[in-house]
Amino acid sequence: MYQTKEQEILPEYWYNVVPDLPEQLSPPKDSSRDSSSIELLKQILPEKLLEQEFSFRRNERIPDEIMDLYIQIGRPTPLVRARNLEKKLSYSGKIFFKYEGATVTGSHKINTALPQAYYAANEGVEEVVTETGAGQWGTATALAASLNSMRSKVFMVSTSYKQKPLRKQIMEIYGANVVSSPSNETDFGKKILKENKDHPGSLGIAISEAVEYALEKGYKYMLGSVMNSVITHQSIIGLETKKQLELQGEEADVMIGCVGGGSNFSGFAFPFISGKAEMIATTAEEVPKFTHGKFGYDFIDTAGILPQLKMFSLGADFVPPGIYAGGLRYHGAAPALSMLVHSGRIRAEDVGENEVISAMRLFSGTQGIIPAPESGHAIASAIRYARQDPASKKTIVVNISGHGLLDLSIFSRGKQ
Ligand SMILES: Cc1ncc(COP(=O)(O)O)c(C=O)c1O
Repeated sequence: MYQTKEQEILPEYWYNVVPDLPEQLSPPKDSSRDSSSIELLKQILPEKLLEQEFSFRRNERIPDEIMDLYIQIGRPTPLVRARNLEKKLSYSGKIFFKYEGATVTGSHKINTALPQAYYAANEGVEEVVTETGAGQWGTATALAASLNSMRSKVFMVSTSYKQKPLRKQIMEIYGANVVSSPSNETDFGKKILKENKDHPGSLGIAISEAVEYALEKGYKYMLGSVMNSVITHQSIIGLETKKQLELQGEEADVMIGCVGGGSNFSGFAFPFISGKAEMIATTAEEVPKFTHGKFGYDFIDTAGILPQLKMFSLGADFVPPGIYAGGLRYHGAAPALSMLVHSGRIRAEDVGENEVISAMRLFSGTQGIIPAPESGHAIASAIRYARQDPASKKTIVVNISGHGLLDLSIFSRGKQ
């Protein structure tokens, strides 16, 4: 199937971290609603996805049809040595970045949108429903649905809906129906709007609306992060990175990525988990789930429709400040990632918006790529790391989860 030498970097299997975790993963817990919320997952998720969600298999074969789509959307993505940044920082070691912004939708989110849409389409579903914060997940869902000949509906967090009209436009070009959340299209949205008609929305609320809508209409729901199956799909990032480093005779000493729900970081870092590389998971200082959140069971969504997961969380009713990096505003983080942060295998770090904007400027000016504000957090951590010990010979590998070409107004926020 591979047509170019480059495509040989693509792995044949996704990697599922579950068998390699230090402890068994705690199962999702039913909420106290009348009907079982775990049963509910069976109604809203494709069967194959649900099977992957609870799988103990380390390797999951990537279906040929999905591999073909991965190639269509720009995989493998480049791993680039950031020589100019190294020079600017007078760093004696090496800095590499994996660039997920090179996919056609501009972020890593398409890596899981494609299999999720494919599994839904295989079940004869005509429409998929989701939520989006920054707009990247909604964009990926809209394209993945279109590539699988399905319609899509996207509940977009109100703050982002207002901040990012171009994102909405792209989703519509791909055929999605996009509504601002909280909306009048669900009972939960109506209830929230009745309490506060100018509610800024949150990812937790948008998830609740999307699930309620999918249930009512009998459509399938797609979730862009947090779930195990999503992280398994995202492992393509780390598996490619591993091969790309090997081909260059390099080894990662430090791996850095940003965390919203945890999918890009986990997908990037988990294939290296059994090795020695130091790992830094960067969250927004304004949404400090690892450093200020609690590790325990909490709801995925604000209405508590979906089951609870054992994870770091700031509380499912947490309303984040309107930082520009919409993808990092989520209250929790994936259970496997939360466990590995809790056990100390992965170190968490917070960075604030001003530091992120300076890092984005420095990276754009040295490497030419304007990163997504979310990815700017990972870059800020990498720059911090290099500046702490410029004489270090360590190889830092950072995941740039997306480009920021549609997020340029963040630059008018920050002071140089
Ligand atoms: C570009 C980008 N990076 C990172 C994230 C954070 O999500 P996750 O932690 O699931 O990768 C998002 C979420 O929307 C995003 O769009």
